[in-house]
Amino acid sequence: MTGLVDRFGRVATDLRVSLTDRCNLRCTYCMPAEGLAWLPKEEQLTDDEVGRLIRIGVEELGIAEVRFTGGEPLLRRGLLGIVAAAAKLEPRPRLMLTTNGIGLERVAEGLREAGLDRINVSLDTLDPERFQALTRRDRLDDVLRGLEAAAAAGLTPVKINTVLMRGINDDEAPQLVKFALTYGYQLRFIEQMPLDAQHQWDRHTMVTADEILAALQPFDLRPDNVSRGTSPAETWLVPGHVDAAGEPARVGVIASVTRPFCGDCDRTRLTADGQIRNCLFAREESDLRKLLRGGATDAEIAEAWRVAMRGKRAGHGIDDPSFLQPARPMSAIGG
Ligand code: GTP
Ligand code: 5AD
Ligand code: SF4
Repeated sequence: MTGLVDRFGRVATDLRVSLTDRCNLRCTYCMPAEGLAWLPKEEQLTDDEVGRLIRIGVEELGIAEVRFTGGEPLLRRGLLGIVAAAAKLEPRPRLMLTTNGIGLERVAEGLREAGLDRINVSLDTLDPERFQALTRRDRLDDVLRGLEAAAAAGLTPVKINTVLMRGINDDEAPQLVKFALTYGYQLRFIEQMPLDAQHQWDRHTMVTADEILAALQPFDLRPDNVSRGTSPAETWLVPGHVDAAGEPARVGVIASVTRPFCGDCDRTRLTADGQIRNCLFAREESDLRKLLRGGATDAEIAEAWRVAMRGKRAGHGIDDPSFLQPARPMSAIGG
């Protein structure tokens, strides 16, 4: 089997599948209050089409890990069926999902039964008013209940993704860590990237990994000897605490901008409308939907996917003067 290898020798084994570009929150750093121009239904892949592409990824291309993203993936009606179909593949891929947590309380157990292994939940503040200001919805309690349900269902380690923003929630870093330690979640602080629909990202106001680590000094973080592998998060151990599964407690930083990990990237992305993106920041996409709907064989689709990955650039180039933000925002690419 020839896998997804690029010109720099990186091999993509981690497939991120966006199941919808829609979302039930309106995070100010992600999309405008009125939402975006959503994909028309006929342009979105059907459940069977998504299932077929995941199967080709696993059987023909060496995909070992599938992460479902959005928009908000819990809004996808056929989600449980898509997860269950992926869990039946051989060799069975590890299955993960990244969600904003709204509605997770109701589906956590079902997701586990369908075969999901782990879950990551986005949460930027623990203050209800701030949550409402940031997401333009009053749903903090739903997210907190969703987190608890995920841990109770054994979708561990439950990870929390927090984008820190200067003057908005950067003062909350210690409280967020304390909250995560109390409940046994693994918190990761994320450097904000230029992927917002409004193109308002500013390098100079971004909270950096160095600043985040300075704010975490009171926790006496210790180096984590477990290999980071290709995970975007650098993690530290928090002495004296364990997570929801009884493992040593960890906290992480995803420093995509100041400490890029593109050299170790193992990702390939499928958008909800069937386009392959070889990078979060790719400028071109490859249309697998057209092939699927035009009657292409599995082998032809696999070959088009390989070709798409060969063109992957060395890195995101955020610091290059010629950097261009991708045409699609993060909510339409998949996080
Ligand atoms: P695990 O560590 O295995 O749990 O997964 P993950 O961290 O890859 O998944 P998640 O969807 O939670 O992603 C967390 C954050 O990592 C995202 O919000 C992004 O900020 C960042 N990230 C994910 N994929 C990429 C990528 O391809 N490139 C860059 N630069 N950042 C990424
Ligand atoms: N930079 C970094 N992370 C982002 N997310 C959304 N927009 C950005 C951005 N511009 C995060 C969300 C979620 C994950 C899928 O991506 O907070 O945790
Ligand atoms: Fe929705 Fe995620 Fe964008 Fe917030 S960041 S609006 S939760 S897609």
